[in-house]
Formats: sequence, C-alpha cells, structure tokens
Amino acid sequence: MKPRRLVESVESVGVVDWDRRLFDSLIPLPDGTSYNAYLVRGSEKTALLDTVDPAKIETLLENLQGVESLDYVVAHHGEQDHSGSLPVILEKYPRARLVCSPKAKGILMDLLALPSDRITTVADGETLSLGDKTLEFIHTPWVHWPETMCTYLREDRILFSCDFFGSHLAQSGLLVRDEAELYLGAKRYFAEIMMPFRTAIQKNLERVKGLSLDYIAPSHGPVHNRPAFILGAYRDWISETPKNEAVVAYVSMHGSTEKMVGRLTAALAERNVTVHRFDLAGVDLGKLAISLVDAATIVLASPAVLTGLHPNVAYAAFLANALRPKAKFAALIGSFGWGQKMAEQVLALLPNLKVEVLPPLLVKGAPKESDFGAVEDLAETIARKHKDSGLA
Ligand code: FEO
Repeated sequence: MKPRRLVESVESVGVVDWDRRLFDSLIPLPDGTSYNAYLVRGSEKTALLDTVDPAKIETLLENLQGVESLDYVVAHHGEQDHSGSLPVILEKYPRARLVCSPKAKGILMDLLALPSDRITTVADGETLSLGDKTLEFIHTPWVHWPETMCTYLREDRILFSCDFFGSHLAQSGLLVRDEAELYLGAKRYFAEIMMPFRTAIQKNLERVKGLSLDYIAPSHGPVHNRPAFILGAYRDWISETPKNEAVVAYVSMHGSTEKMVGRLTAALAERNVTVHRFDLAGVDLGKLAISLVDAATIVLASPAVLTGLHPNVAYAAFLANALRPKAKFAALIGSFGWGQKMAEQVLALLPNLKVEVLPPLLVKGAPKESDFGAVEDLAETIARKHKDSGLA
C-alpha cells in the first residue's frame, strides 16, 4: 500500500499485512492485520511515528522514498511488530533522534541493541515542536506493556495510540469503513491483549477523555474517524459488571460430555442466559476470548483423560486465567470412566479469576436422567446467581 494522506502533512506510511494468519504464534488473525506508521511533516521538522514488523521493512522503505531526512522517530511501544524496523530506519536516517518513554528506552536497547546515545526520553505531557505542528506525549502504561505511550498531534487533533484502540483488520482504506466490522476486530484485539489490564485502561481513558479528537490512529487496523465509537466500546469492555452470558467451553471424546453440554446449553437458554458454546477441539481462540469479555459465568466441560482434564480444556482454562476476564462464576461438568481428579486441576488453573466456583458436576459413564436433572439444576443455579447479581 502506498502512502495515504490522513490530513494535510500527515501520511500513513505503514503496511497492510493481508495474509498474516497468526500473531505471537498464538492469536488467529482471520482478517489479517496492519502495522501502521505515520509521517508527520511540520514546517521545520519531520517525525516518523512507529515503524513496522521487520518482515515488512521493504514496504516501509518504499513508502519513505523521497523523504530525505527525519528529525525524529517516535517509538510508542517496544514490541517488535512496531519497533523491529527501528535499527534499519535509524541507520538510514543517521540524524534522527529516537523518542520514547523512559521505560521504553531500556526495552528497546534490550530487544534491538539500539545505542543509548540515539535515544531521547520524553516525560508524560512533554511536547516536541515540529514548527507548525506540536507532538504531545501522553504516557499510557499497560496498553499493553509497561512502557506504552501515545502521541497527540495538537493542531490536527489526532491521537496516535499504538496498540491502544487497535484492531487486527486488513483493509484497503485508511479509515473505518464499517463500525460493526471494526467492533468485532477491535473487541478481539482487546480480548487478546488488553483485557488483563482493565484498571490501567480505565486510567488511560481518563487521560485521553479531555482531548479534542478528530481521529484516533492506532498502530493496527483502520483509523477511527468517529473516536466516540471506540471510546464507548472500550468503556463498556472495561466495566467490571459482566452481562447475563455464559461461556460453555467443552471437549467430548465419546459423546457423554457433549450430551451434558447440549442439555446445559438448552437449559440456560430457556432461562434467558445467553450462551457462547465452543468445542475446544477446533476452536478459534479469538472468538473464545471475545466471549470472555462480557460473560458472567464460565463453564468448562471435560471428559477425564488419564484421570485428568482433557488437555484442550486445561489449555482453555490456562488462557482464561491469563486473560483475567470479569466473570463472577465458574463451573466444571463432564464425565469419567473409572476415576478422575479434574476438579482440583481446574481450581489450580484459575487462581487469577475472582470467581465463585460452583460445585462440580462429574458423572460416571454416560449421563443418566438423574444426571440431566443435575444439569438442569446447575442451569437454574447459574440463572439465579445472574439474577441475584442484577445481571438479568
Ligand atoms: Fe502491536 Fe504490542 O504490539
């Protein structure tokens, strides 16, 4: 993608990665992604805001053809999908100063072996004049690393937010084209890397609340030309109040656990609890993470494998524990042939979650009518707890 003008003297010079399907060797990217970098030309100085994943450096260099000199390169974040091309850019532009937060300096030196004498750190609220354009640096830690910061371009009312407000969404246009599509991509992104930092995000939202904003330009996905939309979505996602929803994540080997899940899904739905059901044998982890953003209850369902949880269920529990969703209740159901110790394993895997763990429902062999009755009772308990919590 060639450089694209955002406003006068501000261009997007980053890269759309249409074909990338996995991020961090973990996160599925059904719609690709982009590594956004922006060139801001002031009347006296020029700054590049962020670089791109080093795998795409050639495109960034093509987009910078004709840019004879850079005075500043701003690194909002040390993670290599944005910083990884800094060594090449700093070599190409030997007069450029690398500008970052104090915490980012050490991270960039550790990750990329950048020389200390090329780096200028900026304090929270510090400004840098490019002549007729002013960059204001706003420290926004933990979106999603400790060193992350944003830049506010005062004259054009643009917030360059790096990962904050980002989405893994490849598209040809620069601006959000469809807010429903953007919403899902941004929620997936929030769920995967921002959700554990809800408290920090709340503080960061307060920091940007007072800014007059025409655009929010993140480092992944489209530029927000209606900032209120993504700001409102973030306020909803970081709320500590979940919705009347349950995630039911299961694996079944011979059908017994699946039958219990089927009855539980129907019983919850009858009681007006929205169910997000996932067969972990072939799950899109991003969709599972999205559903964890709002769910009040997480139900894991597993057959016993050598007396323990099915490894896919253990993996989902480990992931949920890392993402720290706001769920209030958790439950385990499943079946075993001759012995099991699954309940203890689940408890050990979820220490980060502030959940009330409901009594496990583990049946020997195929579920019988009395077992299905117990499943109905569990659904009733979940629905009642949601209601008592003011969610229904
Ligand atoms: Fe897009 Fe945290 O890097």
